[in-house]
Amino acid sequence: MKKTIYVLVVALGLSSVAMADEIELRSKQSRIVVGDFMLLLKADLKAAMKEGGPGNAIRVCKNKAPEIAADISEKEGWRVARTSLKLRNPNNKPDTWELKVLQDFEKRKAAGEEIKMLEFAEVVITEGKKQFRYMKAIPTGKVCLQCHGSHIAPDVVATLKTYYPEDQATGFNQGDIRGAFTITQPM
Ligand code: HEC
Repeated sequence: MKKTIYVLVVALGLSSVAMADEIELRSKQSRIVVGDFMLLLKADLKAAMKEGGPGNAIRVCKNKAPEIAADISEKEGWRVARTSLKLRNPNNKPDTWELKVLQDFEKRKAAGEEIKMLEFAEVVITEGKKQFRYMKAIPTGKVCLQCHGSHIAPDVVATLKTYYPEDQATGFNQGDIRGAFTITQPM
């Protein structure tokens, strides 16, 4: 009897160490992928803004962001997306797990954590399937305000209204959490 318990404890101990290692490894990979996503998007956004202002750059966010996300998702075999508590595109709506993490990011920011340090990873069982889930907060920078701030140019407002009649993603200030990247990896 004693022996059985001992073996069980050892097995549990080992598996939780192995699990911690696995979470750390997968978080590291996710961090790299999110960084690439951000860089690609920012480069495209900058080029399009330079070429024709924010009115022109809307198509980058509208088409390029989901395209980049789909490319990475296919390459890695993961689901990679962006989400937020205040949405522009209803397709980016957070699920229950993501909603909780987004709310938690707001609490952690209020408690003094830097936005760029806000991330969360967890292994969850969803519909009987084991998944690794990861989120990383996205800060609102100055350039973002042209389409997500409080003083958006009238032509940009008009274009946004046509594509996103239910747009809630305005009124942000620099230093707010704009949203988060979210990754789901099958395990
Ligand atoms: C030129 C206008 C424009 C600029 C500048 C811009 N965005 Fe967006 N943003 C959009 C559009 C359009 C969408 C909707 C994309 C879609 O259809 O998936 C969007 C969606 C998002 C989303 C996904 C969640 C949602 O609301 O649907 C995040 C996160 C986001 N933007 C963050 C940023 C950040 C951070 C910056 C600054 C680095 C930024 N955006 C700059 C136009 C812009």
